Amino acid sequence: MAVRPKSFFLAGIILAYCCPASAQGPDLPINTCNDYLKLAMSSTPIIGVPNSQTFEVSGNPAWKGPGRIPTSGGNGMKMVLPGKSSWLPSCNANGSYVMLQKRVNGDLFCVRPENGEVAFEIKSKPASGEYACACPVQNFQAWRAIVRGAIIPECDEATGLYKPQQWYRDSGSNPNQVCMTSDGTITTKRTERFRFGAGTCTAGGVFVPK
Ligand SMILES: *[C@@H]1O[C@H](CO)[C@@H](O)[C@H](O)[C@H]1NC(C)=O
Repeated sequence: MAVRPKSFFLAGIILAYCCPASAQGPDLPINTCNDYLKLAMSSTPIIGVPNSQTFEVSGNPAWKGPGRIPTSGGNGMKMVLPGKSSWLPSCNANGSYVMLQKRVNGDLFCVRPENGEVAFEIKSKPASGEYACACPVQNFQAWRAIVRGAIIPECDEATGLYKPQQWYRDSGSNPNQVCMTSDGTITTKRTERFRFGAGTCTAGGVFVPK
């Protein structure tokens, strides 16, 4: 693929922030949900292949080889193989993935919206069938690209919601305290080091000083 001048800026960003040096091959293609769903519902046999440089997904994922779709990519990315009897992806209109996904057998899991990569397998199936995937997905992505000052959120195991008390590491690598609501909205950011105890974050992200 020829590198056009417009691509340089993007390439710079990707090199600086995207992928650790250990990355092998390109990431999973993005915004493929509608195409994969169409394929899963058709009678085309679907075969999972690694996302290699030679595999192209261009609008129609069957374009290069009927039913061949990438299920693994750089950085150890993995997605579930779509299929009538295994997984019919749940899609947004723009081709991105709904974060909460359900296998045909009823199992629930969370994916990254852009590429359908499995971010979290939900072990204790909630009776409601509802699960908040934003926190598990953010946690998964934050671990992949650890950035100083970024919050690696802790999530409630049963609901997926953000825990009220969170931490981030400052430039001196000290853990600092953050309070947030269950949907991840930051309410209080403390600069006192948590380990020495500034206070506690309670439900709704309310900070209660000691
Ligand atoms: C695609 O649609 C979803 C749901 O409406 C939205 O949250 C997301 O931001 C959209 N993505 C892009 C790249 O526009």
